[in-house]
Amino acid sequence: MSIQFLVTGSINMDLVVATDHLPKTGETTTALQFSTLFGGKGANQAVALGRLRGENGPSIYMAGKIGPDDWGIQCKKNLIEQGIDCSYVGISQASTGIALIEVDSTGNNRIIVVPGANQTMDTTWTKPCLDTLLTEQPMIALFQFEVPRETVAYCAQRIHKAGGIVIVDPAPPDTIGDQWATSIDYLTPNQRETEALTGHYPDSPEAVDRAARVLLSKGIKNVIIKAGASGAWLITHDYTLYCPAFPVSVVDTTAAGDSFNAGFAWALGEHKSLPEALRYACAVGSLSTTSMGAQKAMPDANSVEALLQAWPKIASRQL
Ligand code: RIB
Repeated sequence: MSIQFLVTGSINMDLVVATDHLPKTGETTTALQFSTLFGGKGANQAVALGRLRGENGPSIYMAGKIGPDDWGIQCKKNLIEQGIDCSYVGISQASTGIALIEVDSTGNNRIIVVPGANQTMDTTWTKPCLDTLLTEQPMIALFQFEVPRETVAYCAQRIHKAGGIVIVDPAPPDTIGDQWATSIDYLTPNQRETEALTGHYPDSPEAVDRAARVLLSKGIKNVIIKAGASGAWLITHDYTLYCPAFPVSVVDTTAAGDSFNAGFAWALGEHKSLPEALRYACAVGSLSTTSMGAQKAMPDANSVEALLQAWPKIASRQL
């Protein structure tokens, strides 16, 4: 039976300023460029899955909320154009979510999110979606923390009970309650999120292990720590895998984590092994940094294959 993907999360309009350096407190600097781009961690993950799938393949559903405004209409239209099923994207009274993003000349960024409609996505909105979809095909579900935590917890528990795979990106970081931690198959923090959740900054294999054990001890099944240019670790209860990042020219790291998560989910859907899925995710994440913007930069399956073939020696290895 073919798989279906459900992304439950934020839909934002990104207001992006490119600058040669990020201003210090009290400093004024002049932008090199300003763009209004489609974003939101949830929508980014859905679009990244859509790029990897191409024209045909499994259904990709987005569950989220937009505002009753022009940006909301544009965001939903864009998702539909990318082949995402938006039957569960609703309109709330609050305005569409916004992200203020600054990107410097090295591709590093800073983001402030105004959640707006995303914060109105309560469980009454997601219940009918799950009631329908969980009776259909097996599901791989992706979450992030830009919608209310209770909604993520409720959906994750239901999907886990129904036998689906639950992937949670704890961004921005927040406490993960014990009552639903056991529903998480893969928790995928970046380094700062790992530090916020565990008190350990994972910049060495030892620190990665210490941090991951804190999360695994909550009942989370697997932890993936995304370390940007330093690659990614996948830590299970029994072993640890490490995969380096692929060497690419970085323009903008916005949504690299979202692309990584979509790549990992896609690879699981294709029944790749965990080492292969980790490598695939690293390739997708790396490629997404090579141009400006979140969704604009998501790679298709051909570009990912080309990168994987160009770098056969970059692979996951067990530590
Ligand atoms: O992960 C990148 C995303 O974070 C941006 O697109 C922005 O909307 C924020 O949600």
